[in-house]
Amino acid sequence: MLNRLVACLCACACLMLVSLTPAKAQMFGTGEDVKYAEQLWLSLNKYRLVGPNSLLTTPYEGIEPHGFVLETIQDTIVVNGEHRVVIVKRNYGPEGVEVEAVADDPMKYLAAHTVMVKFDKGYDTENQDWYYVKYSPDGMVLKNPAGVSLAGRVGKNADAGCIPCHASADGDDYIYNHNRFSMGAMMKDDMKKGDMMK
Ligand code: HEC
Repeated sequence: MLNRLVACLCACACLMLVSLTPAKAQMFGTGEDVKYAEQLWLSLNKYRLVGPNSLLTTPYEGIEPHGFVLETIQDTIVVNGEHRVVIVKRNYGPEGVEVEAVADDPMKYLAAHTVMVKFDKGYDTENQDWYYVKYSPDGMVLKNPAGVSLAGRVGKNADAGCIPCHASADGDDYIYNHNRFSMGAMMKDDMKKGDMMK
């Protein structure tokens, strides 16, 4: 009788533990992440960073996974009423496409847009607070093979995806093309501001 009571109590305790353990939080592709991506697309369009009236820069030969020819453009724009630094990468293909061909007719070769947005401290502080999203040429949020939308903290705590790869960028700012957001550069900026105040 006592044995049965102990077994029963154990089973109850186990069940409670299981039900109290929170489900693993989804790091990206949530409804909120996708909703932000939709707002962001409208703002990117307005500022001519995407879409048929996009400002054009000089395309250059790129590397995978982004594309064979790339364009990178950075701006500070208003999204949902907040000023945000955005970096837009236009990815062109297919393999073998020439830089000149893309320069002559960018929309024809556009394969995807990959975008990073600097969020406020606390969003993902251990990864420098970047929000990532990948869009089709016409602004649909693309999904990974598991069917999860590529928007938000894409690849956080995983072996593959935007975050683990961008973590290797020089300067520890998660940006490959420059180090303007690295701690060293930010401190130099602060020092310059300090000098001006003198
Ligand atoms: C396997 C590595 C890798 C993955 C995965 C990756 N990137 Fe990148 N990314 C790079 C490299 C390398 C560059 C620099 C390419 C260049 O301009 O020559 C870059 C550049 C960029 C830039 C321009 C800013 C910068 O870092 O120079 C953006 C924006 C960007 N990636 C967004 C994304 C997004 C969004 C994802 C996920 C959907 C992603 N990347 C996944 C390697 C990666």
